[in-house]
Amino acid sequence: MNVTILPDAAAIGRAAGDLICAAAQQNPAIVLGLATGASPLPCYARIIQRHQAGEVSFAGARSFNLDEYCGLPESDPNSYRSFMRKELFSQIDILPENTHFLDGNAPDEAAECARFTAAMQAAGGIDLQLLGIGRNGHIGFNEPGDAFTGEAYKTRLSESTIAANSVYFSQDDMPRYAMTMGVGSILRAREILLIATGEAKAEAVRSMIEGELSPACPATALQQHEHVTIFLDEAAASLLKKD
Ligand code: F6R
Repeated sequence: MNVTILPDAAAIGRAAGDLICAAAQQNPAIVLGLATGASPLPCYARIIQRHQAGEVSFAGARSFNLDEYCGLPESDPNSYRSFMRKELFSQIDILPENTHFLDGNAPDEAAECARFTAAMQAAGGIDLQLLGIGRNGHIGFNEPGDAFTGEAYKTRLSESTIAANSVYFSQDDMPRYAMTMGVGSILRAREILLIATGEAKAEAVRSMIEGELSPACPATALQQHEHVTIFLDEAAASLLKKD
C-alpha cells in the first residue's frame, strides 16, 4: 500500500482528482469504479474543474458505482444514482449510457447482481477503483463479518453505517439494505485509490494498514492488492505508527 498524508480534504481532493484525470488522459476508454459519500466530493470537484478547463475528457470512459440503496426510488435525492448525476456526471462529458449502477429496486436481486457483475466483466474489468472507508472499516457496503465477500450482493447495513449515513435522511427513513460490489469484485480492479479524512476514520485506517487481514475489518482485504494508493489527512492518519 502506498500511503500519502496530505494536509486536508481539499489537498486530498486535488491529488485524487489529478490521479484520476491522469489515468483518463492516458487511457481515454478507462473503466472507473466510483464511490459516493462525503469523501469523494472534493475529488469530483477537481475532476469537474479540470474537465471544464478542457484538460480531460470522459467521453470514452465507462463507470461502475460501488453500491446503491435498496428501496429508494431512482429519483430520490439520496439515491446514489442521483448523487452521481448531481456531483459529477452532469458536469462532465461521460455518456449517461456508459454509467452503470446496481438497481436497488430490482425484483430479482440475485439476477440484478449477476447482471452487474457480467457488465463489469464485459467492459474488461475496472481499471481504477475509487474507495472511501466506513468508520467500521467497510469498503463499498461490505460490512464487518465472518468472511470476505465475493461478487455483488444484497446486504443489511450495520448500525454503524446507519448512524453515519442517517444524517442525510429525514426522520428514520434511511434504507436498511443496499446492493454492493463484493470485496472480490473490488480486488479485481487493476488499481485502487482510497481516500479518508477525519478522526472518525482513524481506527479503521489503522486496522486497514497495520491490522491483521480479517473480514472483521473488510478494508484489510486491500493488503492483498498490489496497486493501492491511499490518501489520508493528518486526523485519519493519527493512529498509524510513526516511523
Ligand atoms: C460509498 C461507499 C462507502 C463510503 C464510506 C465512507 O459509495 O461505498 O463505503 O465510501 O461509507 O463514506 P463517507 O465518505 O461519507 O465518510
